[in-house]
Amino acid sequence: MTSRRVLITAALPYANNHPHLGHIAGVYLPADTYNRYLRLVGVETIFICGSDDHGVPITISAQKENSTPREVVHRYRSIQEQGFSALGISFDHYSGTSTCEGHQELAQEFFLKIRDRGDIEEKVTDQFRCTDCDMFLPDRYVEGDCPLCGASDARGDQCDACGGAFEQDLLIKPRCVNCGSNPQLTSTRHWFFRLDRYEERLEEWLESREGWRDNVRNFSRGIVREGLPARSITRDLEWGVPVPLEEAKDKVLYVWFDAPIGYISFTREMFRARGQEDEWRSWWSDEDVEIVHFLGKDNIIFHAVIWPSMLLGHGDFRLPTSIPANEYLNFKGEKFSKSKGVGVTAQQILEQFDADRVRYYLTAIAPEGKDSSFTWEDFIQRNNDELSDVVGNFAHRVLTFTVKNFETKVPAGVEDSPFLEEVLSVVSEAREQWSKSFDRQRFREALDRVVTLARHGNRIFDAAEPWKSRKVDLERCGADLAALLELVHAVSLLLLPFLPVSANKLAATFSDATADPETAVMKLGTEHLLQPGALLNPPGILYPRLELLDDEEEGPAS
Ligand code: MF3
Ligand code: ZN
Repeated sequence: MTSRRVLITAALPYANNHPHLGHIAGVYLPADTYNRYLRLVGVETIFICGSDDHGVPITISAQKENSTPREVVHRYRSIQEQGFSALGISFDHYSGTSTCEGHQELAQEFFLKIRDRGDIEEKVTDQFRCTDCDMFLPDRYVEGDCPLCGASDARGDQCDACGGAFEQDLLIKPRCVNCGSNPQLTSTRHWFFRLDRYEERLEEWLESREGWRDNVRNFSRGIVREGLPARSITRDLEWGVPVPLEEAKDKVLYVWFDAPIGYISFTREMFRARGQEDEWRSWWSDEDVEIVHFLGKDNIIFHAVIWPSMLLGHGDFRLPTSIPANEYLNFKGEKFSKSKGVGVTAQQILEQFDADRVRYYLTAIAPEGKDSSFTWEDFIQRNNDELSDVVGNFAHRVLTFTVKNFETKVPAGVEDSPFLEEVLSVVSEAREQWSKSFDRQRFREALDRVVTLARHGNRIFDAAEPWKSRKVDLERCGADLAALLELVHAVSLLLLPFLPVSANKLAATFSDATADPETAVMKLGTEHLLQPGALLNPPGILYPRLELLDDEEEGPAS
């Protein structure tokens, strides 16, 4: 029997920002949690990410700092890697589109193969060019007065104030956003991807997708049904993957064309570094492999429409199996924005709180079906009410009682506890629901199942009243505690995908039963798993209650 294989990717972050909690909650944390879950239940996975290095914003960051794109990329890549790893987000490979061995060649191969099919056409168009910056400007780098309503902050060919769209040559008093000078419309030749030729296949494919989130499927189908205009996939820029054509010498591929190809080139780079020359191909071509792309909602069109068209155009690789895109996590009701200084970076929150506290809260409020909001008060409260008062408290009660009265060993006689049946049944129910939620990629719900299980544990503890039975019937007391320990054990295992550090500590309490967590998880709820007499190794207080340290309103100082 070949085992199930899942290839997980997380959207490649642009290499010019600090990862903030919005990115983490929407993309990297769910991807990591899913990866950990799959491994725990015996699925073979690879988890791929890296930085998205090309494009105009990075070129401009470099200009501003009087440095080079390469230098900017290098610096941010390590900031991002550190942020991810501090949060326990563990990729199998983290690369970057400007450094990955063979990335450039693969991106060029995509371009040429699609062109050979006749699905790329050339057009000469007019675009704003800033002589002072010595570069062509994408729409969002050109501001001017709206020809329709006169508002002074229209961009390129549209105006947010009146919602109007117009030909860009009508923009009044155009200004380069970067330097303020007056850009000129200049004609230039570009290559366009004929997406219209993929409409039918996309429509059919999207229609056949099962179990996708509604936001992703409906949105993409809507776009395809409206008809797909040809998209320009080249740019007049120095920084990027050169267009592999003699007549396009000074041009590069559009960053959104080369970036997703990174998923493949990074996979190949990883396996080659391991000395497995051709293994990457099977992950991208074999029918049994599930390819799962995690991303935020602003990336849906690229992953569910354009990327599949590119894959069809190339021909050798399979289309994504699912695209669990999230909505946005807002910060106190506002969009996270680096430029406006709204939000919290991974680094900032980790200065004061453990990674697992952050992981807990961000999963508990994950923006899965709709936007959600981060506030410091809520961060503290959810952690205290759930992780400290329910999960931590339950484990702590059971363990300290066992330490005090049963020499820190699993007491004998679990079969004699009238609570064993209830314990096994709630554990098996939780285990099953947990898996179902994970398989439907509802991580928030999966986490809630575990908290509910711990809550149930607290109720059984109260009903068993070991503080009373200890005095009248020590054997009975031990039997009940043994049953409750089974429940603590189950909670520790089911928490592993969410809270890698603390759940591992809790699981290590039962070292002989969790030596092989994979098997242990499979067996949860079918029988009791702890050996009477086994020595326990309790972790102490796992989740002390949190307090807001600095100004209550503003949250911890950054
Ligand atoms: N860099 C893009 C963003 O942050 C995401 C790129 S995803 C990829 O929005 F597939 F193109 F790599
Ligand atoms: Zn300029």
